[in-house]
Amino acid sequence: AQKIIIDTDPGQDDAVAILLALASPELELLGLTVVAGNVPLERTLQNALTVCELGGRPDLPVHAGCDRPLKGALVTAEHVHGASGLDGIELPAPTMQPAPGHAVDFIIETLRREPARSVTLVAIGPLTNIATAFERAPDIIPRLRRIVLMGGAWSDLGNVTPAAEFNIHVDPEAAALVFGSGAEIVVLPLDATHRALTSRDWTEAMRQTGPVGRAVASWTSFYERFDRAKYGAGGAPLHDPCAVAWLIAPDLFSGRRVNVEIETEGRLTRGMTVVDWWEVTGRPPNALFIREVDRDGLFRLLSTRIASLDRN
Ligand code: BDR
Ligand code: CA
Repeated sequence: AQKIIIDTDPGQDDAVAILLALASPELELLGLTVVAGNVPLERTLQNALTVCELGGRPDLPVHAGCDRPLKGALVTAEHVHGASGLDGIELPAPTMQPAPGHAVDFIIETLRREPARSVTLVAIGPLTNIATAFERAPDIIPRLRRIVLMGGAWSDLGNVTPAAEFNIHVDPEAAALVFGSGAEIVVLPLDATHRALTSRDWTEAMRQTGPVGRAVASWTSFYERFDRAKYGAGGAPLHDPCAVAWLIAPDLFSGRRVNVEIETEGRLTRGMTVVDWWEVTGRPPNALFIREVDRDGLFRLLSTRIASLDRN
């Protein structure tokens, strides 16, 4: 199984991504590192614990990380995810405790301990924890297998500002550091994830599988209202599950190796992923940038895996 750490700011779509990883024998989840993003850190941490308990893994190490971006104030997204970050269903308050030690230390120690190039970071929130780890311990960068991240956009452009996607917008300095690090990167941007929309039939089928499926259906039904109102979308975009799904079934996705840089200065474009899709700069590729997803295949994978959690 591929060893992974998920760096996350749950978030309903983060929650589904974590459950997908827990349900997938191809992946060995070493722990969760939590970051501030969709809601402040104290809530994202609680939400991460809630999701582990729901997924039957109260033993999983869950580490609290950075509570604000490298520079400036935290931007959150309660208007999408609700006040708790995980609105849609009332779940019991978690009884498991966060693991001792800061998320950044957990990332550094794990990468130094595990065999070189055996651990993948799945980044589905702002990149603050990962950038901080890279800055503090650059020796871990060549030890990484790769980073698979949800963030950015090329043709779909911004969902927070006209130019910037949320995870990059919240911490552009961190994203710039990660994209400039030399690590192998796979990017699941809005171009792909805005096509990974739930359907009514899928949601209703999930609702029938048991407590985990019911939570997934309730979460996606809650946060799809935002994308319906904003973009006339037919359902909820499962952004973050795409990053986990890429590791399990990369054939569901296609993209191109390109150069991606992060705009940190622009008055109108701070947080933009500047994607050299047409290779006009001559700068070497630093990322596999995904643009297409087999939507039906993705939702089949999600249904079987989430349902398997309800059978255990
Ligand atoms: C990203 O921002 C968050 O709101 C979601 O959890 C996802 O990681 C989409 O732009
Ligand atoms: Ca997220």
